[in-house]
Amino acid sequence: MDPEILRSSFAVVERRAEFAVKYFYSHLFRHNPDVRGLFPLDFPEDMERQRDRLFAALTHVVERLEDPELPGYLRDLGRDHRKYLVEPDHYAAVGASLIAAFATVSGSAWNAEAEKSWGEAYGAITNIMLQGAWEAEHDGEPPWWDAEVVSRARHGDDLVVLTLRPQRRLSYSPGQYVSVNTPHLPGIWRPYSLANAPRPDHTVDLHISRVENGVLSTALVRRTREGDVLRLGAPGGALTLRTPVDRPLTLIAAGTGWAPVKALLEQLDATHEARLFLVARDTSYLYDRSAVERLQARLPRLAVTFITPAPGRPKAQATERLLTALGNRAGWARHDVYLAGPPDLVEEIGEALPVLGTPAERIFHDVLPPTGQGGTRPLGSAEWLLNRPQPTWHNPSGRAPKA
Ligand SMILES: Cc1cc2nc3c(=O)[nH]c(=O)nc-3n(C[C@H](O)[C@H](O)[C@H](O)COP(=O)(O)OP(=O)(O)OC[C@H]3O[C@@H](n4cnc5c(N)ncnc54)[C@H](O)[C@@H]3O)c2cc1C
Ligand code: HEM
Repeated sequence: MDPEILRSSFAVVERRAEFAVKYFYSHLFRHNPDVRGLFPLDFPEDMERQRDRLFAALTHVVERLEDPELPGYLRDLGRDHRKYLVEPDHYAAVGASLIAAFATVSGSAWNAEAEKSWGEAYGAITNIMLQGAWEAEHDGEPPWWDAEVVSRARHGDDLVVLTLRPQRRLSYSPGQYVSVNTPHLPGIWRPYSLANAPRPDHTVDLHISRVENGVLSTALVRRTREGDVLRLGAPGGALTLRTPVDRPLTLIAAGTGWAPVKALLEQLDATHEARLFLVARDTSYLYDRSAVERLQARLPRLAVTFITPAPGRPKAQATERLLTALGNRAGWARHDVYLAGPPDLVEEIGEALPVLGTPAERIFHDVLPPTGQGGTRPLGSAEWLLNRPQPTWHNPSGRAPKA
């Protein structure tokens, strides 16, 4: 497979992502009706989200074809796909529909070379994902962990801290996240960070902030009760401390980005030099101050800065204040920097840090879902020629997808 051919052909497909996603799912479900049931109930109403997910995954892979960390990511993805009840046979079906969608949206820009490269690339990805799934099976790892809610603390209307006891031990590194599902909402999984370093009693905390109209966060904040059982997918994510920790650390957390950062801080000992910037949309969202104070008492070399907007000012002012506070600190070239919070803030701060002096490879955060794209990129003039009618939507329920 040729990375250059993969990238250039993907660039064409990407410009027509909306069309490609509709075609892909329509083709997949028409030829494999059994696969339809694996996708969440709110589908196809939420086509934009499906587009973003599928293209985030493809972009992630295409951008990292030569990255030595890619196989590890794919193994974890395959291991974790067991929670969607994906069977090995489904991979060939998905591959055939993906390539059919790519060929259709690319028109004459698609050729035998592109088809060959994508066939080989998809085959290689499938092999690694299936290997990850097989290894997990072989190690006796469950597709998900059932975890009982043992305590629940509400902070205001929109935030809850849940403590869960997994029925089987969940091994993870501080800073990682798990995807969470409640059996009341089949097929709906969202990632949430584990907010503590591993404990002797194996319980884990989740900090969940309700998103307006958010399906899972609303259910978790408003309806979860002690004794409920949630499902947790396999832990993942790269926001883990690089060991040995021989450099000073800067940890920047906004909102519930505090959750993974808290877990990282719990892992440190009194010798570590660290500075924490904790950003919240207003002082009432600084919901875990007592935990910060306990950490400060245990870690004498931890400096803490709380950042909120001035009273009555919009929450965006917190970002400005954060940038000012970061600009007033020194030593950026020496620090490892860990970032967690809303994707747009992480992106903005991630771009500002190299200007302050932190090398890009010393800045760590989770893979960011696409934000603010709001749609596909505009078509180039040549691509207008490829513009084809929308594919017929194959939808057994008879409901039309949203425009
Ligand atoms: C690696 C990772 C770790 C995460 N850790 C946490 C965590 O510890 N605590 C936590 O509360 N959340 C965390 N999230 C966010 C979480 O996974 C969900 O995206 C969030 O709870 C919304 O899910 P939902 O089902 O309620 O909303 P959805 O039904 O998915 O979305 C409803 C609407 O809200 C918009 N939306 C989705 N997410 C957000 C958002 N974050 N801010 C604003 N609008 C949004 C969507 O575009 C959509 O229009 C994390 C996300 C990632 C990628
Ligand atoms: C090359 C192969 C594949 C890749 C790279 C891939 C990648 C992804 C990614 C990145 C997600 C987003 C959530 C997550 O990280 O778990 C996802 C979700 C999902 N995948 Fe895959 N996947 C592949 C194959 C498959 C196959 C073969 C199936 C089975 C039909 C499948 C079914 C699903 C389902 C049901 C979801 C959840 C969708 C949702 O929540 O809306 N995937 N996939």
